[in-house]
Amino acid sequence: MRILSIETSCDETAIAIIETSGDLPHCAFKVLANQTLTQIEMHRQYGGVFPMVAKREHARTLVPLLKVVLKEAGLFKESSRHVVESPLRKEFEHMLLREPELYAQFISAVPDWNPPPIDMIAVTSGPGLEPALWVGINFAKALSLVWKIPVMPINHMEGHMLTPLLEKTEDGMQLRETMFPVLGLLVSGGHTELVLMKHWGTYELLGETKDDAVGEAFDKVARVLGLPYPGGPEIAKIALLGTGGKYALPRPMLHAQNYDFSFSGLKTAVLYLARNLGVLSDEQKNDIAREFEEACAEVLTKKTCRASDEYGAQMVVVGGGVSANKRLRETLENVMQKDGGGVPVYFPEASLSTDNALMIAVAAATRQQQKPPPLERIIANGNWRITGKA
Ligand code: KG4
Ligand code: ZN
Repeated sequence: MRILSIETSCDETAIAIIETSGDLPHCAFKVLANQTLTQIEMHRQYGGVFPMVAKREHARTLVPLLKVVLKEAGLFKESSRHVVESPLRKEFEHMLLREPELYAQFISAVPDWNPPPIDMIAVTSGPGLEPALWVGINFAKALSLVWKIPVMPINHMEGHMLTPLLEKTEDGMQLRETMFPVLGLLVSGGHTELVLMKHWGTYELLGETKDDAVGEAFDKVARVLGLPYPGGPEIAKIALLGTGGKYALPRPMLHAQNYDFSFSGLKTAVLYLARNLGVLSDEQKNDIAREFEEACAEVLTKKTCRASDEYGAQMVVVGGGVSANKRLRETLENVMQKDGGGVPVYFPEASLSTDNALMIAVAAATRQQQKPPPLERIIANGNWRITGKA
């Protein structure tokens, strides 16, 4: 089956096409195309993601990006002008009412393309920024109407959860031999969660952040240290130059007897520390970054290790943008080796840590036996939990 996936939940516009063979648990994939356009430069001036800018950029770039992806997959063919019948045109107009730029681009281009041999369109429907999610969803629906292909709504966090379960094969990728339960540490700009995957598509939320997500804390601390958005990679870079133990930051909720997290106090502690120190030298910034990174890694890994033990996890996976963090990777591997009974830990390959459309296609592949809902039931849900229904 061929799946085209669309991801617009935050500040990356991403489209991928995969060809799947086999079904769970032996799903294999060939990646026919996988493109991500990042809006980071545009959001940098705001020091974070500005939802209306994100929405506008998705609307501006989806149609041209789709053309690139179809070409890359060898599935692009222009047909002799294919006029959209007027009832369908009316439906498009209605569907893309709130996205006039997307509508204009869509109507002047897509009907002139041959419908590609694709079996399913997967689209991120939540969680994320709702105005941004809607652009991708409406685009998916319009494509569904013109190409007569069903749409499967996909949870963004499920995409992050599955990326570490991918392994390379000679001609593509496949799902690893998966043993349940799998414990997932999901760490991104919007989420920090410990999730137990009991079987494909069946999740239990063990704990989550009570305030800021860990990625958000990296972004905010970066701002305090005068580093650009997104802060995660910037902090990681200077933390490498820092010396450990120069400052003492708190380890919030480390000893709380639950699997919840809190990162807002840690961020505030950095703010006060920086204020007390006055104008920061590069060395001080490096040392603070190092201590902050260690504090995050310690809390995340110790709680993950404890949850793995309590729930008898057979595998631990880490997904989301912060899973790219090397210190987190090393610390978790060490802690699981030393105190976690050697339960294996898997991380996504670097390019799949942050937002991408490939993970959305993979999540759809694991749901290929499910019946896609009618289009009108597919809506953006900014708070859609991985444990909840679409
Ligand atoms: O998953 P993602 O791309 O988007 C969301 O779904 O939020 O995660 C983005 C977050 C940002 O907060 C960014 O600062 C963080 O991931 N991040 C990192 C690293 N790379 C990205 N945090 C720590 N270390 C990194 N190397
Ligand atoms: Zn994400």
